[in-house]
Amino acid sequence: MGPGIAGAQRQPCGEKRMSEIRRQISVQVNAERVERPVLVRQHLVDFLREELDLTGSHLGCEYGVCGACQVMLDGKVVRGCLTLAVRADGKQVQTVEGLSEAGELADLQEAFLNHNALQCGFCSSGMLMTALNIVRHHPDASREEIREHISGNYCRCTGYQAIVTAIESVLVKNRASAVLGASL
Ligand code: FES
Ligand code: FES
Repeated sequence: MGPGIAGAQRQPCGEKRMSEIRRQISVQVNAERVERPVLVRQHLVDFLREELDLTGSHLGCEYGVCGACQVMLDGKVVRGCLTLAVRADGKQVQTVEGLSEAGELADLQEAFLNHNALQCGFCSSGMLMTALNIVRHHPDASREEIREHISGNYCRCTGYQAIVTAIESVLVKNRASAVLGASL
């Protein structure tokens, strides 16, 4: 006969539950080095929002579908709601706050404003991460390809046309600058 319900709930004295275990991490967050113990079950976006007060990354679906929680981890876009904070140990995290302050998002932010690509703004920080990834790694992306790249980011205000136009305008401007630079 098994231990029964009472037996199953019993917990050995002094043994920590998995959900209470903390691990020390050292992570570069934007311009700041952060060293502190974090719960092993804590997600990166919760760590950023709750412990570092970096609330620019949002929580939408919380299971990897909407993209609102996106940040850069060692230069790659990740879902903050699926990435554990302990995974950032020894790495660099960039949030929308840090990238804005560094001027990395200036062109995209201006284009989003000029083309009315943000309404409530809930999706914008995650969308800007994907947009920056396109600007950095897919400078020749067509309108159709931009659509595909942002297909993992939900905009509840459904401003997709304007978002695609804004990103496209930055790519066009960058291509024109590159041509001009090469001809000088
Ligand atoms: S909150 Fe992370 S993908 Fe939706
Ligand atoms: S602007 Fe409102 S969710 Fe995209």
